[in-house]
Amino acid sequence: MMDFKGRTAIITGVGSERGFGAAIAHYMANDGCNIICVNRHVEGAERIAQALHETYGVRTLAIRTDISEFEQVERMIHTAIEAFGKIDILINNAGISERVGIEDLSIEQWDRMMRIDLYGTFYCSKLIVPHMRANHYGRIVTVSSVAGKRGGGVFGSSHYAAAKAGQLGFSKALARETAKDGITVNCVCPGACKTDLGGIRFEEKSVMPEILMGRRGENREVAAAVAFLASEDASYITGEEIDVNGGLHID
Ligand SMILES: NC(=O)c1ccc[n+]([C@@H]2O[C@H](COP(=O)([O-])OP(=O)(O)OC[C@H]3O[C@@H](n4cnc5c(N)ncnc54)[C@H](O)[C@@H]3O)[C@@H](O)[C@H]2O)c1
Repeated sequence: MMDFKGRTAIITGVGSERGFGAAIAHYMANDGCNIICVNRHVEGAERIAQALHETYGVRTLAIRTDISEFEQVERMIHTAIEAFGKIDILINNAGISERVGIEDLSIEQWDRMMRIDLYGTFYCSKLIVPHMRANHYGRIVTVSSVAGKRGGGVFGSSHYAAAKAGQLGFSKALARETAKDGITVNCVCPGACKTDLGGIRFEEKSVMPEILMGRRGENREVAAAVAFLASEDASYITGEEIDVNGGLHID
């Protein structure tokens, strides 16, 4: 049990009950965290925000935001600070994945991947850091992927792997810049889990034998690692990555 009482988190990509975003939101709300659910399609975010409030009694808000649009992220951060006064935690979770071979990978597909998975993380982090610096407290946790470490494969192709690897480098650099201001910046790298990401159905034949634990991950297992890094207990950890992949990749 982690104590998030009095804390408020922005979580991006809270759009479907089956995604990591909802699992992270439930995990942290259960431990007392107020939650701002951000998603491109707001209906799911509103439904989940309502459920969190009713189930755990925490304050919640849903904000429609396309994280690949800087002005929308600016508005979202402004709205969140106006509504809650102080934002303690940012979880960069929203993302897309796609599988397409290099010959067929268009510039548009490459751009779209970078704009959502990498620029979105950059925009949200850039805009929350001044607020966190002013409060001398902040936790930024980004949901990257095993794909950023081992190359995409079944998880997504070269553009996905590049964006996810980009998140890892970005987070480490940001950790260096912000450590003195009470802000920690970390990543979680999930393996094959049970969400609907990019409509990808993992080809059991190709990836299952490589998972030492012989099963896909539960969303809650990813949420637990994210919540830990977002908690006060992780106060001496920054620039770090936690792999949650059942032994699929060990480094
Ligand atoms: N599912 C896995 O096994 C797995 C493995 C490793 C990493 N990840 C990462 O986990 C994160 C969450 O993915 P998921 O598996 O829960 O998939 P998901 O598709 O269920 O959730 C992603 C959410 O992000 C939202 N989103 C997409 N583009 C957006 C945008 N431009 N602006 C705002 N919201 C947007 C979607 O609407 C959706 O609600 C992603 O960053 C993904 O790369 C997933």
